[in-house]
Amino acid sequence: MTSRLPRLGKGKLESCSMSDFSLEALLDSRRGEDLDLWARAINPQFVRVLRTIGFDRTWARAEGAYLYDTDGTRYLDLLGGFGMYGVGRNNPRVRAALAEALELETPGMLAMGATLLPGLLAEALIGLAGGRIERCLFTSSGSESVESAIKLGRTATGRTRVLSADHAFHGLTLGALSANGGREFTDRFRPLLPGFEQVPFGDLEALEEQLRREDVALFL
Ligand SMILES: Cc1ncc(COP(=O)(O)O)c(C=O)c1O
Repeated sequence: MTSRLPRLGKGKLESCSMSDFSLEALLDSRRGEDLDLWARAINPQFVRVLRTIGFDRTWARAEGAYLYDTDGTRYLDLLGGFGMYGVGRNNPRVRAALAEALELETPGMLAMGATLLPGLLAEALIGLAGGRIERCLFTSSGSESVESAIKLGRTATGRTRVLSADHAFHGLTLGALSANGGREFTDRFRPLLPGFEQVPFGDLEALEEQLRREDVALFL
């Protein structure tokens, strides 16, 4: 039995067998549609912004700190995916490790099981943390890390108040958003979670005054 994999063709749903599937062929068949497809299927407003500020390039490839558009122009990427590409895009050592992991047919994620790779990563991260941290909690985003910190702070202290700084950004999930100090991010989503307050950024006295009350679960 051949399994059938749905494939999105130009405006119609095609299908091909798993053995026919080629990522390269799929990308080749849709070359140049990047912005229009993104606007149609993901976020039209974002694409409008890209077009307005002149960031509407079609990206061909990336290497280290450089991005290349389809005209072959090279761009120095000074953002680095907000830190996600701290070791550069398509870093050869990371690529080799990913390819090796696929070749080794590692078991990947198990709901009820423990494997060696996550433990090795956690051990290495704890080693880098300078002796103050004993365990590692893996999350899939910054927002999820902040959610975890809020829950950990509340459960560890038995307190509920969460402080952050005004104009702070901590992510867009509801807990992290409740700690967000920018009204442009929060106004449309009220009511936010109770127990969150902001102190002025850089105002150590205001922070100390709040902490002296001894009812603060955590400061983000
Ligand atoms: C300080 C800080 N915390 C949390 C986040 C949220 O991270 P994510 O977008 O991965 O959820 C960001 C994202 O820019 C951030 O800068």
